[in-house]
Amino acid sequence: MGGTMQGFACAPVERVRVGIVGVGRRGEWAAKRLSKIPGLEVTALADVEEYRLAEGNAALKSEGRAEARTYLGPESYKAVADDPAVDLVYITAPWPVHVPAAVAALEAGRHCAVEVPCAMTVEDCWRLVETAEKVRRHLIPLENCCYGEEELFALNLCRNGVLGELVHGEGAYIHNLAAENFAEVDGCTYFTALRGTWNRWRVKWNQIHDGNPYPTHGLGPICQYMGINRGDRLERVVSMSSRQAGITAFATRQFGAASPEARASYKLGDVNTSLFHTAKGRTIMIQHAVQSPRPYSRINLISGTEGTLCGYPLRVALLPDSDKWLKDEELADLKEKYMHPLERESGELAKKVGGHGGMDFKMDLRWAQCLQRGEPMDADVYDAATWSCLTELSERSVSAGSMPVDVPDFAGKSRM
Ligand SMILES: NC(=O)c1ccc[n+]([C@@H]2O[C@H](COP(=O)([O-])OP(=O)(O)OC[C@H]3O[C@@H](n4cnc5c(N)ncnc54)[C@H](O)[C@@H]3O)[C@@H](O)[C@H]2O)c1
Repeated sequence: MGGTMQGFACAPVERVRVGIVGVGRRGEWAAKRLSKIPGLEVTALADVEEYRLAEGNAALKSEGRAEARTYLGPESYKAVADDPAVDLVYITAPWPVHVPAAVAALEAGRHCAVEVPCAMTVEDCWRLVETAEKVRRHLIPLENCCYGEEELFALNLCRNGVLGELVHGEGAYIHNLAAENFAEVDGCTYFTALRGTWNRWRVKWNQIHDGNPYPTHGLGPICQYMGINRGDRLERVVSMSSRQAGITAFATRQFGAASPEARASYKLGDVNTSLFHTAKGRTIMIQHAVQSPRPYSRINLISGTEGTLCGYPLRVALLPDSDKWLKDEELADLKEKYMHPLERESGELAKKVGGHGGMDFKMDLRWAQCLQRGEPMDADVYDAATWSCLTELSERSVSAGSMPVDVPDFAGKSRM
């Protein structure tokens, strides 16, 4: 082993050449966004569909950039990893491709940025940790929600002690994805406005897995507020799923009761709730609901001995008058006073570039800055593993009648 990657930094890489693996909805946007960051250049694209590669290059051209080399096929990530004109591999392919592509990239000496969740099993989380440690290259979780305007504000409040000693957090991914998960990729037979996921890969996952397959949008920011892997750690988790009814109801409405979609069985419960206990005695509740008819929310609640912040919509309550949320003007003053430096510096530009209200751009800007300046990343391979491993742990706890499951100490190296 090459030693801990906590605080790892490497010599500055001023010009960063990026290879994108998976040029779908996420990857194509990434190609455009990355083209707006000085010093970054997309030099390679890989996908299993030729037309996606063409669309990726069209996106680069529309940004005034040169076309990238293209690689086609299910293992095209190997060619990107071996391409000498790539410094960092940016993985935006479906979940099962993340770890093979990341390991190939790291083993070839590239840095690597991986969409979330970075890995879908505990064993694969360990593979990422052990490979990054061995080759001493960055593995960056692409957790854009850590860079949301409200999450950055919450982070800055926590770091400045405004909420006191932190005790409890809540996060979620509540987003009705039924229509987009079933949308046809080409031709969009049923939902002309939506481009579907490739080969309905997300629906296929939901057919055979329960628990929380997409935990990091809620968990990542709360872990950063609490300094998880930086003084505290996730110790154990219990998880419970409701029954599945939402996908079948949607498919019946949309395709008819006799359709294969309506008659298929789906394992994923409509609402999954997981509850962590940390080594310092804090609790974190994380929910996943992607087939419920309700508005989008990541909850984003963080509570301490001096106050509480809660999102959707943003509210803050502080002692001594903490039984009421702050008035609009008081909240505006607090937001101005504790605006995160990254938001102050790049928030406006990020909103103009777009991508989930600008958080995608701030995320990319930050890892690029860290690489270009030779500084440690905001989130490292241990965070990637800690935030992602709930995918398997939640499913294990659900299938064991919600029994507690230990969370591996990826940063402390005690393999369980
Ligand atoms: N952070 C966020 O806000 C956010 C939002 C949406 C999706 N995501 C994540 O982004 C990733 C991609 O999601 P998406 O919605 O763009 O999916 P998508 O189906 O639109 O795109 C996936 C792309 O990968 C390609 N692909 C499939 N197998 C491949 C392989 N073996 N090698 C190379 N390419 C391959 C497909 O052809 C497609 O172009 C997922 O990990 C997902 O969880 C993150």
